Amino acid sequence: MPQTSNRTSTFSESVIRRMTRVANQHGAINLSQGFPDFDPPEALLKAAERTAREGPHQYAVTWGAQDFRTALAKKQSRFMGLPLDPDEHFVVTCGSTEAMMVAMMTACNPGDKVIVFSPFYENYAADAILSGAQPIYVPLHPPDFSFDPAELRRAFEQQPKALVLCNPANPSGKVFTCEELLYIASLAEEFDTFVLTDEVYEHIVYTPHHHTYFASLPGMFDRTLSCSSLSKTYSITGWRLGYVIAPPAIVNQARKVHDFLTVGAAAPLQAAAVTGLELPDSYYGELLAEYTGMRDLFLGYLDAAGLTYSRPQGAYYVMVDISEFGWNDDVEFAEWLAREVGVAGVPGSSFFHEPVRHLIRFHFAKRAETLAAAGSRLLTLREKVRAQHA
Ligand SMILES: Cc1ncc(COP(=O)(O)O)c(C=O)c1O
Repeated sequence: MPQTSNRTSTFSESVIRRMTRVANQHGAINLSQGFPDFDPPEALLKAAERTAREGPHQYAVTWGAQDFRTALAKKQSRFMGLPLDPDEHFVVTCGSTEAMMVAMMTACNPGDKVIVFSPFYENYAADAILSGAQPIYVPLHPPDFSFDPAELRRAFEQQPKALVLCNPANPSGKVFTCEELLYIASLAEEFDTFVLTDEVYEHIVYTPHHHTYFASLPGMFDRTLSCSSLSKTYSITGWRLGYVIAPPAIVNQARKVHDFLTVGAAAPLQAAAVTGLELPDSYYGELLAEYTGMRDLFLGYLDAAGLTYSRPQGAYYVMVDISEFGWNDDVEFAEWLAREVGVAGVPGSSFFHEPVRHLIRFHFAKRAETLAAAGSRLLTLREKVRAQHA
């Protein structure tokens, strides 16, 4: 049999999906893979019913159906504070996952370097490999996940073609401050670098933190490919609707990459999602209030179990410190936790380039009952650790 590509041989199985399997095997509550266990807004479900019956059922315009882009441009112009044109500034993709791949392939040539903050969402390394680009990792130092400005400058001195900015960040829950973003912007300008943002958690930013769209910083729109999606904002991760926003010259190239990769996002779901994009601003306030409730509930359970964690500023993940429990290997701990305590999280090492082995990521986009069940199981953790070491 011929050999499959070298490119794919460097990929390992997604740890998140493996933890989901482990969770299922042991009947553990799955707080590993980040998707909600509650329904999207009723208006979206109704719209999906309608489009299932009435269509469209054939290809949309490859870079996005007109109605969808019009509604998206209106919404994003409002939130980003930029005058976005539905015909010039958008490529509609199959989720932010495809958007990031399109952004990377549009920005980079094989052999180019790309700065990625570590810990990072696992797809970025794969996106770099698939584009032939080489990541330069810059650590975000736990527990507050700050970066060292001198270290970032040294990465820029290696002449990267692009920097990947996940803000709010998965897995750390970090929301970059305006000052941090302005510093990144000054380096991007000085070294003439693209910035590829992943802002899927743009509407999940906890008070008093504030989301600054990188593209909205002075001078940055021209070098930014802003990627995001409807997955998290409307609890529709399975609908696979995302987008890239960029200046027309970049969008023209990105549309071709997208066309050859996937042709287009699902036409009936784009039509149905217009209803979501047209929801009033109060929707985003309510969404945030709900996530703030889930975060506070889950952090309360972590407090009750006496666990140490980094308080998330945005997104819906929390990194818990397991150093005190005596495991050298977070993967073994995560498997033990799923098996013995009945709660599945993701070993932090799968997100870090550096050898960090003392963190576990849990996500809390779950109904109160699910979080309460996980919380009561976590209360047994210390006793089970003692029994394990006895
Ligand atoms: C940072 C980040 N980007 C992208 C995605 C996937 O987004 P989408 O469903 O839009 O492809 C996730 C999902 O967990 C994520 O955490």
